[in-house]
Amino acid sequence: MEFNIKSGSPEKQRVACVIVGVYETRKLTLAADLLDRISNGFIGDVLRRGDMEGKLGSTLILHSVPHALCDRVMLVGLGKERDFRAKEYREAIRASIKALTQTSANEAVSYLSELPVKKHDVEWMVEQAAVVTLDALYRFDRFKTRNEDVVREPRKLTLAVPRRSDLADGEKGLLRGLAISHGMKLAKDLGNLPGNICTPDYLATQARELAAAFASDVEILGQDEIAALGMESFLAVARGSVEAPRFIVLRHWGGKNREERPVVLVGKGITFDSGGISLKPGEGMGEMKFDMCGAASVLGAFRAAVEMKLPLNLVVVVPSCENMPAGNAVKPGDIVKSMSGQTIEILNTDAEGRLILCDALTYVERFNPAVVVDVATLTGACVVALGHVATGLFSNQDALARDLVAAGEEVGDRAWHMPVWDEYQEMLKSPSADMANIGGRPAGSITAACFLSRFAKNFDWAHLDIAGTAWKSGKDMGATGRPVPLLVQYLQDRADIALGNVVRRGRPRREAPETAEDDAD
Ligand code: BES
Ligand code: MN
Ligand code: ZN
Repeated sequence: MEFNIKSGSPEKQRVACVIVGVYETRKLTLAADLLDRISNGFIGDVLRRGDMEGKLGSTLILHSVPHALCDRVMLVGLGKERDFRAKEYREAIRASIKALTQTSANEAVSYLSELPVKKHDVEWMVEQAAVVTLDALYRFDRFKTRNEDVVREPRKLTLAVPRRSDLADGEKGLLRGLAISHGMKLAKDLGNLPGNICTPDYLATQARELAAAFASDVEILGQDEIAALGMESFLAVARGSVEAPRFIVLRHWGGKNREERPVVLVGKGITFDSGGISLKPGEGMGEMKFDMCGAASVLGAFRAAVEMKLPLNLVVVVPSCENMPAGNAVKPGDIVKSMSGQTIEILNTDAEGRLILCDALTYVERFNPAVVVDVATLTGACVVALGHVATGLFSNQDALARDLVAAGEEVGDRAWHMPVWDEYQEMLKSPSADMANIGGRPAGSITAACFLSRFAKNFDWAHLDIAGTAWKSGKDMGATGRPVPLLVQYLQDRADIALGNVVRRGRPRREAPETAEDDAD
């Protein structure tokens, strides 16, 4: 789909569909009002008949609106004007795109992007409109040989900005939105691919292609190199599978120089998690192809960051393997020595994510990182705690946790700060090794984070447990692309701070929105 930015009046758009908002109860937005006036009250009449009350997410398509130059007008319900915030804005955009795909309109001009949304500027409005639109249009159908429910994708969407002087900001927002969307698409595609295709080596190939396309550095370590590094914990997980493990390192040099300390992102890349000898129940096991969504999201964030040419040094690290049962697989009770030298008693082979991540965390010390963020579908317990709404966030630095929460808030990809207190560390005690890899049933997502924290002592570290947010189950099963938006926003914020950009309310902000006032045409 092609995007455009434009400022101009809705009644003058010669296009298949013009999209305008209507607040509850039937209050017209600026664009809807202009159409109402030129049509001698046509829109108002329709609303008075009662088919559309402005409920958030409702839509109504009108044909033949008098004197308007477009073929159709889509009214989109925005809910109550005083409750209209970022979340409502995204919902309205999503509803308008879903409704648009139900029509045969190939092109549309949307005036939702010029609505006032508190605390957000033109750049953000356009960025979010592009992200939500492409998210709503995403389909994973490469294995469908027949087209079942044909959904048309409109060819072109023009996003309106209030004034001509906003065009440049709109274009900037669009580029950001597209970069984020490309990262999310990569994350979704990788997540949705089945385990027989998306193997550790497949992920490595994807990383190589990313590096080639964006002139970045890539290094792929195989079994022998991983063994030479002393990653016994990682290799214990990989051992039961016929798929060879891969350790992927991607580097983007956008900082002032090569000495600038990088942001390091680490993603859990279990391409299938059967549980190993501690085998999972059969029901729903197919969903464990999504156990590499952490890897997919850091690769997606990398893609977005290089496309945006973010001015910072970035390292992405992915330990990847399958977790399978086999005669030679690691067994409950086995003890391994991690790369850090600490020994681990593997009491449950299904708690494998932390076993591959701990060695990756030790490995990244060599980069002298400014900060390390790992992303993992780590625990079912996190889904119990936070459901599918918030990502679980853990950190050894409260300030870092705050920045990540704020980044997620900014883009509607929320995370919730959870504790990593010493009291919980007790639960990882092992009679025979330095620690066990499980902490018992209570506080499962916290003890998992506590385990990781023991390998993150030498740098500022945060851990994102995305077990509940990386994919949807049920009839809409599929990867969500989260937390790519959060990660990219966090990276952008860091870059902004480094560049000395405007910082307000403790975090950087792009330029403040100007107050509404219309441009002639
Ligand atoms: N990949 C799973 C976590 C998971 C489970 C994500 C369900 C999404 C939905 C992870 O490897 C795992 O199996 N964790 C165990 C840990 C337990 C054995 C301590 C879990 O959550 O049950
Ligand atoms: Mn597991
Ligand atoms: Zn797992």
